Amino acid sequence: MDYQPPSNPLRDPHDKRLPRIAGPSGMVIFGVTGDLARKKLLPAVYDLAHRGLLPAGFSLVGYGRRDWSKQDFEEYVRTAVKDGARTSFRDNVWERLAEGMEFVTGNLDVDEDFDHLRDTLRNIDSSRGTAGNWAFYLSVPPALFTDVCHQLDRSGLAEAEGDSWRRVIIEKPFGHDLESAKELNEIVNSVFPENAVFRIDHYLGKETVQNIMALRFANQLFEPFWNAQFIDHVQITMAEDIGLGGRAGYYDGIGAARDVIQNHLLQLLALVAMDEPRTISPDELQAEKVKVLRAAKPVYPLGKTTARGQYTAGWQGSKKVIGLRDEEGFDPDSNTETFAACTIEIENRRWAGVPFYLRTGKRLGRRVTEIAVVLKNVPHNPFGDSTVGTLGPNAVVIRVQPDEGVLMRFGSKVPGSAMEVRDVNMDFSYREAFTEESPEAYERLILDALLDEASLFPTNEEVELSWKILDPILEFWAQRGQPDDYRAGTWGPASANTMMERDGRHWRRP
Ligand code: BG6
Repeated sequence: MDYQPPSNPLRDPHDKRLPRIAGPSGMVIFGVTGDLARKKLLPAVYDLAHRGLLPAGFSLVGYGRRDWSKQDFEEYVRTAVKDGARTSFRDNVWERLAEGMEFVTGNLDVDEDFDHLRDTLRNIDSSRGTAGNWAFYLSVPPALFTDVCHQLDRSGLAEAEGDSWRRVIIEKPFGHDLESAKELNEIVNSVFPENAVFRIDHYLGKETVQNIMALRFANQLFEPFWNAQFIDHVQITMAEDIGLGGRAGYYDGIGAARDVIQNHLLQLLALVAMDEPRTISPDELQAEKVKVLRAAKPVYPLGKTTARGQYTAGWQGSKKVIGLRDEEGFDPDSNTETFAACTIEIENRRWAGVPFYLRTGKRLGRRVTEIAVVLKNVPHNPFGDSTVGTLGPNAVVIRVQPDEGVLMRFGSKVPGSAMEVRDVNMDFSYREAFTEESPEAYERLILDALLDEASLFPTNEEVELSWKILDPILEFWAQRGQPDDYRAGTWGPASANTMMERDGRHWRRP
């Protein structure tokens, strides 16, 4: 039978506008006082509640070392929600959510603390009807996964009884290379079966990223040219204007390639390059992504096909900003890169000979994520010299953010008596085309995890394959020592441009 997303009794399956509401359940957040929980997870939970997508008895349990009462926890969540939620603060929504909140004080390695957590969840099950259905969100550094998984196992929390379910949601970084990723997967999978593990790559929760599939597979227009016969190359850019700010501690030793290319950019590449899945069921979608990731390899020699850099002081618009080595908490001798670019090839018939250029960086010209699919030039140009210099290659540009949309660039006749052809843009903008607001990525992903809808979560195999692609580049860079410099507010080190020029191409200026 064809795949259908898990159904909801309240929902007419033909009416796609009706919301998907999670069944009876609750969520425990480990690391609830951390940045991610405060800025993203707690506001997302509130926004889901505001949109009526959480079950009536939904319970949110924080677990941490602080000696907090329920009221302290409520106060903390309330501030996080007021600071970060997308939807307006409504007292009745808040009160209903707050009723189901609990805080459990505990360490990650103390048996009694987890026994206390287990008893708390049991009590909630009987008082609020959460039915033993719990998602455990590990918003903690991966080094602590072992402790948490061991404790969830030992205390019996990982095991569901009867029809109830237990799931674990984990955050990147999933290791720092292939070997450590395998170890991490083994630890998690020794306690939770793979179908109970939800790995968050928040880019997959973005509307525009899901739209890559809609664009490619719901239309007849694009697929005929989506191959090596017509496409010259693909550029995937994720540029940020922010610097490290207070995140130097996390970032130093990780760097742009591990932080962004290994997960977000390789997932984007997989969605752009994969073959059409029969349905978008988790199994079938993930199988296609796995096939393409397996075929993806860095292009050699790496000294010429990759680039990396560290930002120095400069200007971000009208604001003067400091260089990386002056950022608080960053070791000035560190070789950690804040800009990374690489060239990937895909060894299959569809993509043979088409380079995929990936780049990401902090303190670049502006915040933009886009995928530019650049076509080959026409094999013959009957208009002669009149178009030379004014006509670039056709391109389809998927703007992931901001200003979400899709742009198509092609040549058009310039009005006038001569036959002059020039590039024009045809632009689809989400903001103009739809009145509905896009949910935040974390809203979508938390809801999907509660609904057991796994399509937007990378599997352990995808994670390991992505490391396999990146590892040779990381090893090569490690031997090279210091990255190049680039001035804050520019588009990266000169070597990033050289890397493209060698191939007779250039980066798009978004
Ligand atoms: C995270 C990275 O995964 O994505 C951060 O760890 C980065 O370094 C962030 O800033 C960017 O996310 P977004 O959604 O703002 O593009």
